[in-house]
Amino acid sequence: MTTAVVTGASSGIGRASVAALAASGWQVLGAARRADRLAELAAETGCATAVCDVTSAGDVEALAQQAADLFGGTLDAIVNIAGGAFGVDPVEKADLEGWRRMYDLNVLGTTRVTQALLPLVRANGSGSVVLLTSTAAQAAYTGGAGYNAAKAGEHMVAQALRLELLGEPIRVIEIAPGMVHTEEFSLVRLGGDKAAADAVYEGVSHPLSAGDVADVVAYSLNLPAHVNLDLVTIRPVAQASNYHVARGAGL
Ligand SMILES: NC(=O)c1ccc[n+]([C@@H]2O[C@H](COP(=O)([O-])OP(=O)(O)OC[C@H]3O[C@@H](n4cnc5c(N)ncnc54)[C@H](OP(=O)(O)O)[C@@H]3O)[C@@H](O)[C@H]2O)c1
Repeated sequence: MTTAVVTGASSGIGRASVAALAASGWQVLGAARRADRLAELAAETGCATAVCDVTSAGDVEALAQQAADLFGGTLDAIVNIAGGAFGVDPVEKADLEGWRRMYDLNVLGTTRVTQALLPLVRANGSGSVVLLTSTAAQAAYTGGAGYNAAKAGEHMVAQALRLELLGEPIRVIEIAPGMVHTEEFSLVRLGGDKAAADAVYEGVSHPLSAGDVADVVAYSLNLPAHVNLDLVTIRPVAQASNYHVARGAGL
């Protein structure tokens, strides 16, 4: 039995990753804040679920205890997908509270979950840690600085952790998508403005789907244990950088 804890399981890439892992035989504990959406996911995939806010130390401690009880004190994979962006403010006018929330969620949340679950992976004898970062970690864009900084911070956590775990049979996998059309990411970022959220993907026929990224998550985890996809950048063909998007090209 291979086992995973997946955060961000209530929507988008996390939800699709639970489904992809379950479909390839993994036992999954899916975590997020919204219990109703987790219940739907459990009914669809057979996963176990945990209501957990990754910014809460108590919640994450309880998540680790639940994982330990469910999987007998061991774990094959920590899959950190909970994350997101708040706002598109230019630096000069940025709402710094939004930046603090992004750091708290993407950097500290991911680190907190990893800290809490790593002892279970070690007890397992080998395993993987996945961090879902972004191409926003690799290059700045206007209005992106707060999210760029948070995802770049998460990227550095991945890099340092891989160095720190050298010599142990634990791989650190970073997956960095470009434009993924999930139902909530842009809506959350743009404060619920549906027209503005739709405009992000306007003229792009085939942005990445949550399932496209989830397939890469599952593929990376199903590779032989000595193979580490340490950083995978994945974009739709219609996108060549955070700025260069071929809108209206039928791609
Ligand atoms: N969509 C893109 O274009 C894109 C591109 C590159 C990278 N990414 C990254 O991919 C990841 C998933 O994005 P997505 O597009 O699937 O977004 P999404 O649909 O908005 O999903 C975000 C997930 O994170 C969970 N979450 C948010 N805050 C949380 C918290 N404090 N504690 C626990 N869970 C929390 C949400 O669940 P609850 O609200 O139920 O807690 C939800 O399940 C994020 O890390 C994002 O930064 C997205």
